[in-house]
Amino acid sequence: MASAKRILLIIGGGIAAYKCLELIRRLRERGHSVRAIMTKAAHQFVTPLSVGALTNERVLTDLFDLDDEREIGHIRLARDNDIIIVAPATADLLARMAGGHADDLATAVLLATKNPVLVAPAMNPAMWLNAATRRNVAQLQKDGIEFVGPAAGEMAERGEAGPGRLVEVPQLIAAIETVLDEGKEKGGLLAGRHVIVTSGPTHEPIDPIRYLANRSSGKQGFELAVAARDLGARVTLISGPVSLPEPHGVDIVRIKTAAEMLEAVRASLPADIAVFAAAVADWRVASPELEKIKKTEGKAAPALALIENTDILKSIAQPGPARPSLVIGFAAETQDVLAHAKKKLKSKRADWIIANDVSPSSGVMGGENNTVHVISAAGVESWPEMSKAKVARKIMERAATELHAKRTAAE
Ligand SMILES: Cc1cc2nc3c(=O)[nH]c(=O)nc-3n(C[C@H](O)[C@H](O)[C@H](O)COP(=O)(O)O)c2cc1C
Repeated sequence: MASAKRILLIIGGGIAAYKCLELIRRLRERGHSVRAIMTKAAHQFVTPLSVGALTNERVLTDLFDLDDEREIGHIRLARDNDIIIVAPATADLLARMAGGHADDLATAVLLATKNPVLVAPAMNPAMWLNAATRRNVAQLQKDGIEFVGPAAGEMAERGEAGPGRLVEVPQLIAAIETVLDEGKEKGGLLAGRHVIVTSGPTHEPIDPIRYLANRSSGKQGFELAVAARDLGARVTLISGPVSLPEPHGVDIVRIKTAAEMLEAVRASLPADIAVFAAAVADWRVASPELEKIKKTEGKAAPALALIENTDILKSIAQPGPARPSLVIGFAAETQDVLAHAKKKLKSKRADWIIANDVSPSSGVMGGENNTVHVISAAGVESWPEMSKAKVARKIMERAATELHAKRTAAE
């Protein structure tokens, strides 16, 4: 069971809203505190009086309630909780969430939160199976929203059956506590550790609107951050420009250039483990123009003079008091992958290099899978092709074991 947590429950206007009363009781019995937001429609199904009596807190509904804004405010509501539960999540609420609406307190809080959100849908099967709801659910899942249910069975409407029932309270509580327990597994291999992960490409400006970049999607780096979090670490993810949903429970620092990434890494130290998975530009334009470079007829194309960026991996891996105990670099190569990676291990003084073939035929850049080789002083280990999530989990488990061995040897 999870330790006492602050739960924000958003109750939507569906027939299953009555089950929330039982949910609140059971959550409070388990030591959690519950604050509730009811949508306007939810008032048609349960009363704020019952919900308020069971939560022992004032029930909130109105975004423009000035008292609330002064006392709590929707941004604080969005932040001051460990998890947000939407139950029952109506078809309409899912559509507003997927569309990024913020036209009432429930949706404004959902849009403003960085905390985990668990949604328990409940609706008529035709509504659940409708193409619009399918699209909205797919979008929300892509955005990192967790779902539990719906269950299949008889509906409140006579003669209606199919998927759309709110899951039963014990199942809902199990799902809530699973999300809460993520990363806080007792004795998680990286509990109490700080892990820095860099991810994504960097953008090096040519002029105010043009830049040099690469095809990195940031997927492997984000998976590494999630894997470290799931093993209990505090994670700082330093990301170049990517279009991936932010994983919850991870501190994200967004940067654009290689210089900004180096600065962010330095500012995030000390760390136990640093994994440099970002595809950092080796060069930047020596003197980016302050105004857009104009194309002039008859004039030759401008020559771009490049200078080298500071090597982040090499700089952080240098021996010294600030060096993380374990420094892991990625080597993205298109030829002689192993030979280059072995050279990199020595020249950068990294503990491990994770080498992968990123030639276009490999499909690694932007793809879901990766085939990597782990190069360390102990030699080369080649792993079979697997998902980037699996690669990430294996790397982090191995890093945790290595860290433990280093600490034990030092004692
Ligand atoms: C009797 C009745 C029962 C309803 N039950 C549901 C339901 O179970 N699920 C659902 O998605 N909508 C249901 N609706 C429709 C929602 O109440 C309606 O879409 C409302 O706008 C949802 O508002 P909300 O998402 O802000 O709570 C029901 C409507 C009525 C009149």
